[in-house]
Amino acid sequence: MSRTGTGLDAVGAAAPRPQWSSRLAFILAATGSAVGLGNIWKFPYITGENGGGAFVLVYLACIAVIGLPILAAEVMLGRRGRHSPIRSMAELARVDGASPRWAWVAWMGFVAAFVLLSFYSVVGGWSLAYISHAATGAFTGADADTIGGLFGGLLGSAPTLTLWHSVFMLMVVVIVGAGVNAGMERAINLLMPLLFVLLLLLVGYAVVEGDFTRGVDFLFAADFSKLSTDGVLTALGHAFFTLSTGICVMMAYGSFLPREVNIARTVVTIGVLDTLVALLAGLAIFPLVFANGLEPGAGPGLLFVTLPLAFGQMTGGALFGTLFFFLLLVAAITSAISMIEPVVEWLEDRGVPRKAGALGAGLLIWALGLCTVLSFNHWAGFHPLGFISRFEGKTLFDLFDFLVSNLALPLGGMAIAIYAGWIMKPELLRESLGLGDGLAGSLFRFVLRFLSPAAVLIVFLYNLV
Ligand code: PHE
Repeated sequence: MSRTGTGLDAVGAAAPRPQWSSRLAFILAATGSAVGLGNIWKFPYITGENGGGAFVLVYLACIAVIGLPILAAEVMLGRRGRHSPIRSMAELARVDGASPRWAWVAWMGFVAAFVLLSFYSVVGGWSLAYISHAATGAFTGADADTIGGLFGGLLGSAPTLTLWHSVFMLMVVVIVGAGVNAGMERAINLLMPLLFVLLLLLVGYAVVEGDFTRGVDFLFAADFSKLSTDGVLTALGHAFFTLSTGICVMMAYGSFLPREVNIARTVVTIGVLDTLVALLAGLAIFPLVFANGLEPGAGPGLLFVTLPLAFGQMTGGALFGTLFFFLLLVAAITSAISMIEPVVEWLEDRGVPRKAGALGAGLLIWALGLCTVLSFNHWAGFHPLGFISRFEGKTLFDLFDFLVSNLALPLGGMAIAIYAGWIMKPELLRESLGLGDGLAGSLFRFVLRFLSPAAVLIVFLYNLV
């Protein structure tokens, strides 16, 4: 049934379109997108760098108050549009009587997702390399120099990085090429439960082998004297990254969402699951770090240098180390498939079959990924924007990351909030989100109109200077 007339569907149900087979399927897919390197790699190390508990509290507040309303708005726009984000935004702007330039938001998201996947795949490839290191016992009994050397050796070797990057991209293309139900949904239904089982297993291992009380203390005892302004803004910025919101990836997923699913309730579930995974990852990692007298604030190397050192010292370290990096791989893949989806959908809108679209887009993204590969070795001294002091010493990889994490995600998030809060009629907004006439609806709209854009603006300006 087409409900174009009500404005709920901008485009109507003209062409048959695949749908997630259930609300649960969507929750798993969206959670799969949200749970990624951001949860298992980035969250623990930024928590470590920012002193623990107080940072975690602020992060939770940012997710709840700013991240989730924007995520809900993004999914809702996708479901109303029912096409690729670019086409959806164009159609919605027409139906809602707004400027056709709103499609630019989706164009920016398109470019950002493309760039994001190009380097995400390289880092995803590291987890493949580390599965093989852990499984072959490379960490067992190794000292800090040896383990540091392993990471340095990986980054220094363009052929090795390229190999793992290629394997990672190939997996993504195969899954996405097979389609929404036969490919993505099937893979996600298998991978997400696996992810939770692995994570719980690893937390169990940390309880037995690690200094669990210190780990819990570090994550949950809030000492606000340890939190800087910098930390607050990092928390807010990361809320977007971890929820995958702002670059229209969730809009693409929302386009397959059955009409009867209540969006507001669903995104809360996604937010809770995403947060749970980040916290559990912290509980799996920090007890091991403390038990081995290592440094929680080690930065990006926390997972690839500090943690292997811990695994190398412990009973069962080879097995659990392998499982840990396998977990990282699973989390990365289910996020990566969401990044290529808007691109493939856009090609589909232009009549390119899904398999060909996934392959073609995958090849281009893979090629761009080679810039990231080279940023760690042959091009490590190449700083294209080095003449601007903000970008001094930044490699191409650093610039890509900046473009996506510091510019596209917050800007896109702000635009989505403004569209939902200011352009859409209040009744339509409530109905599309599944909110009643009560306080929740008004609060939601208030957040989208004022709080989210203001918060994003602050992070954005801060990240620029
Ligand atoms: N949320 C993913 C993570 O935490 C990253 C991501 C960002 C995925 C934006 C899609 C879009 O790793």
